[in-house]
Amino acid sequence: MKLFDVYPLNNITITKALGSYVWDNNGIQYLDMYGGHAVISIGHTHPHWVTSIEKQLEQIAFYSNSIIIPLQQQLADKLALLSGKTDYQLFLCNSGAEANENALKLASFHTGRKKIVAFTKSFHGRTSLAVAATDNPSIVAPVNETDNIIFLPFNDEQALEALFDKMGNEIAAVIVEGIQGVGGINMATDTFLQLIRELTTKFGAVYIADSVQCGYGRSGQFFAHDWAGVNADIYSMAKGMGNGFPIGGILIAPHIQPKHGMLGTTFGGNHLACAAALAVLEVMENENLISMAKQRGMYLMNQLKSIDGIENIRGKGLMIGFDVPDSLKGLKRKLLEEYFVFTGEAKPNVIRLLPSLAISRKQVDEFLEALKEAIQSIKEN
Ligand SMILES: Cc1ncc(COP(=O)(O)O)c(C=O)c1O
Repeated sequence: MKLFDVYPLNNITITKALGSYVWDNNGIQYLDMYGGHAVISIGHTHPHWVTSIEKQLEQIAFYSNSIIIPLQQQLADKLALLSGKTDYQLFLCNSGAEANENALKLASFHTGRKKIVAFTKSFHGRTSLAVAATDNPSIVAPVNETDNIIFLPFNDEQALEALFDKMGNEIAAVIVEGIQGVGGINMATDTFLQLIRELTTKFGAVYIADSVQCGYGRSGQFFAHDWAGVNADIYSMAKGMGNGFPIGGILIAPHIQPKHGMLGTTFGGNHLACAAALAVLEVMENENLISMAKQRGMYLMNQLKSIDGIENIRGKGLMIGFDVPDSLKGLKRKLLEEYFVFTGEAKPNVIRLLPSLAISRKQVDEFLEALKEAIQSIKEN
């Protein structure tokens, strides 16, 4: 049977991983500055994470959400502690798209409204409402098309105000990434997020902070939206939550009331996923990884700014992007094939850096050295 060919693949087979390194089947070591799409938060195969999963596996891996699963409450308590959102409620699911799908659906249930505001260059996932709220027509199937989503220019305060003036009472939710990931590391301004908070409160709409990529400590705060000093009504989470074990979730503000049957899932919140996610938070707490992400990120950004050739360096914590001018075309490929460094990209010309929050200073320096040499080598040829 053939695999359904939807991914453009690098011709590399990874067979082993530890911390910020991975190894291929020929024993070549790669520095991972991408964390497999921003997923690796505490480092590949962290020993505490491995042991927690192993121990849980020997007891019970799965039972459905028809019984009490104490690990879910332990996870909720730890999340409250690390995120500071102590009075929020937790609903668990399996992926980022599913988290956003549930967030949008919940906002509509809560308000009784249909209209969703999303922004240019947004990415919220590939399921029905999540993909409809994603600004990429090429991944929206005809059946996903809906006039319930209204796209506005990102960071355009006037356009947002004008829309709420016109039809604020019809809007169920505004969904926004604190830092756009797939769109190319575009930062929401503090005043834009504050205005979203103000208008959604005024008109009784729901502020959904898509934190699937920019959340979970990556920006140097638990949620990137925290930098603007606002509390969203719903935070969607996934990627870094399980460090590679599939799990997603939403944090829900106390004024949004649950009702039996309103949301649901077979696999969400299973024993094994909760054990993995709990281990992630324990490591984040014990190793002070949110503050590490902030420090390392600042160092990396400052160093990048002194490198000749790359442009528009931006980001927060360990969510960093820069533009690659035409004169350095092929930089990402060169880094991978000749310097054995994984980086991410955003079309047409952005390199995205999303390493583990536990990356060491030495590994950051190793990356900077490789980047400088790769740039030099392109310039010389
Ligand atoms: C901001 C954001 N939201 C949602 C998603 C979808 O997550 P998943 O691929 O786990 O469905 C992604 C994935 O890249 C993302 O970056």
